[in-house]
Amino acid sequence: MVELSVNGRAHSVDVPERTPLLWALRDELGLLAAKYGCGLEQCGACSVLVDGVVQPSCRLPVSDVAGLEVTTLEALREQPDGRRVVEALVAANAGQCGYCLPGIAVTLTWLVRRSPVAWEEALRALDDHLCRCGSHPRILRVARQLLAAGSGDPPAEPA
Ligand code: FES
Ligand code: FES
Repeated sequence: MVELSVNGRAHSVDVPERTPLLWALRDELGLLAAKYGCGLEQCGACSVLVDGVVQPSCRLPVSDVAGLEVTTLEALREQPDGRRVVEALVAANAGQCGYCLPGIAVTLTWLVRRSPVAWEEALRALDDHLCRCGSHPRILRVARQLLAAGSGDPPAEPA
């Protein structure tokens, strides 16, 4: 049994302690926003916040997050900054199949919360996300707008 705190609620999860957090979220807690993509921490589809920092959850053992606060997109989208990110992605139609977008929304919310952040730093964080549909230009345009709003800089086309 592993004690987890997810989206502000305590859970006792009956899984082996090396179970990846992603499977505990999806299979035990029914939180389906974080997706399985590569399973190798290389695509960002499974991203969540752990104590406020974005992390892939597909190889992160549940025992490593015991005592830490895990936040998934289900909770972020109910908060003003997370909702703003999700609405901006939807308004820009910044996706095709949408499979990558929950993870990208988690990272974008994390960036917005830390803004102002340098655009190069934002690009490095977003580079951890793979969009199989090639929607990166639209996603980066939304990111640029959101982060420019936080910094006071005028929105600009991403390089
Ligand atoms: S599924 Fe976790 S990074 Fe790809
Ligand atoms: S919109 Fe399909 S993977 Fe990004």
